[in-house]
Amino acid sequence: MKFKGKTAVIIGGTSGIGLRVAENIIKGGGKVIVGGRTQEKMDKALSILGKSASGFLIDNTNKESIAAFFKNVDSFDYLFSPGASYGRGMMTEISDEVAESPFKSKFWGQYWAVKHSIGKISSEGAIVLMSGAASVRPVSGGAAYSACNGAIESLGKALATELAPVRVNVVSPGTIDSDLWQQQPAEVREAAFKSFCEANLLEKVGTVDEVASTVLFLLENTYMTGSTLYPDGGYALR
Ligand SMILES: NC(=O)c1ccc[n+]([C@@H]2O[C@H](COP(=O)([O-])OP(=O)(O)OC[C@H]3O[C@@H](n4cnc5c(N)ncnc54)[C@H](OP(=O)(O)O)[C@@H]3O)[C@@H](O)[C@H]2O)c1
Repeated sequence: MKFKGKTAVIIGGTSGIGLRVAENIIKGGGKVIVGGRTQEKMDKALSILGKSASGFLIDNTNKESIAAFFKNVDSFDYLFSPGASYGRGMMTEISDEVAESPFKSKFWGQYWAVKHSIGKISSEGAIVLMSGAASVRPVSGGAAYSACNGAIESLGKALATELAPVRVNVVSPGTIDSDLWQQQPAEVREAAFKSFCEANLLEKVGTVDEVASTVLFLLENTYMTGSTLYPDGGYALR
């Protein structure tokens, strides 16, 4: 019962990696407050998570929505914020809106969520920001997305310095077979998985559990702060 008496806020906790982290915190005796944009995913997640969970809708591309979400939340111990919606593509081919979308949702969405947590998160608490291994090994067609992940990893270090003793760390996965990919057309998913298998040392795509266990480690370990961990099969090295 390592999370007994603890409450985690998970923005993007209604599917994939965030939902698996929520399930594990509840198994460990804790409570969760999950956020996401759609009522359908929220209802499904709350039925999986049971009575130790509550949830509120939030769209982290919208500052007012982030502020309204945190009005529902009192004191808590942990923040994990994998929720993000963005596009990517070659810079000559995408609209300005798509180009800016990773920063709008994934960078600023997490930045404002942390800001709204100050004063509510326990001084013994912890924050895990979501990044992605394109930060250290970019792919063509994802310039703003790669740079956004690099910025998040830098933000994690800066916030660890600014918010201590609250601990701040970052998880930066490779390609993970989460609901995000299951929603893509099969041919897109299979091509992406094949290319990622060829690009990492372990020659496989990661699982939601492999990332969730990294996040849980960063939440639990009381001497970890200012670090980025890469559950990426050695993608950055191959
Ligand atoms: N899966 C991978 O291969 C991979 C690799 C590297 C990094 N990541 C990062 O992991 C995160 C995605 O996690 P996942 O793979 O577990 O995907 P997922 O299963 O699609 O889960 C995404 C979660 O975030 C919520 N969400 C999406 N957009 C949101 C927004 N604008 N505001 C608030 N909540 C939002 C979704 O619910 P709603 O749709 O209802 O909003 C859902 O709960 C992203 O930050 C992504 O960059 C994923």
